[in-house]
Amino acid sequence: MTRKEPRVAILISGRGSNMTAILDAAQRGQWPCTFALVLSNKESAAGLVSARERGISTAVVDHRPYGRARRAEYDAALVAVLQEHRVDWVVLAGFMRILSSVFTEAFSGRILNIHPSLLPLYPGLHTHQRALDAGDLEHGCTVHLVDASLDGGPILAQARVPILPGDTADTLSDRVLVQEHRLYPAVVRAAVGGDLARAFPASTQPQPARSAR
Ligand code: GRF
Repeated sequence: MTRKEPRVAILISGRGSNMTAILDAAQRGQWPCTFALVLSNKESAAGLVSARERGISTAVVDHRPYGRARRAEYDAALVAVLQEHRVDWVVLAGFMRILSSVFTEAFSGRILNIHPSLLPLYPGLHTHQRALDAGDLEHGCTVHLVDASLDGGPILAQARVPILPGDTADTLSDRVLVQEHRLYPAVVRAAVGGDLARAFPASTQPQPARSAR
């Protein structure tokens, strides 16, 4: 009996460099999954163009008509589109919306996110500047499973980079992004291949070193 290939959606809001890293790795490695959809909350997301160039279906579900008060309705609309495309796994790649339990329960245990910090440090925005301001000696990125907490789901894998003298948020972001593009495809590959537990046994959430000041 042949097993059905998992169907994967990638959700983006912007340039989509993690998305292209994943799509390109999947194409090179002939991953056993189908990229069913790239979904954005913004029609202007540059990553939609890259997805279409790679022959992936795209969709836009604009969040603006929903506002804050109707977040759950927006999430239900996202879930409906993903279910129409028979999606099994959701890969968040710079999707700048906070997801409610309506969404996280619909795909429980099958939503991945990459966050540009060594979680649990610096959930939320401006992570590179916050690491610099704290005087940290290292920084990095985290891939985690998504639950209804903000950047708080179980950690699967992390990559570290040094913080160098003279770093700015931009230079640090560039250094972290190189690691994001290496780490995220590897974790997504393991997840969709049913190999997460072996390839990325649960992390102990190590703390990055801090400077003395
Ligand atoms: C990345 O820094 C990622 O860690 C964060 O959002 C950014 C998305 O960048 N979640 P890109 O759109 O993948 O280039």
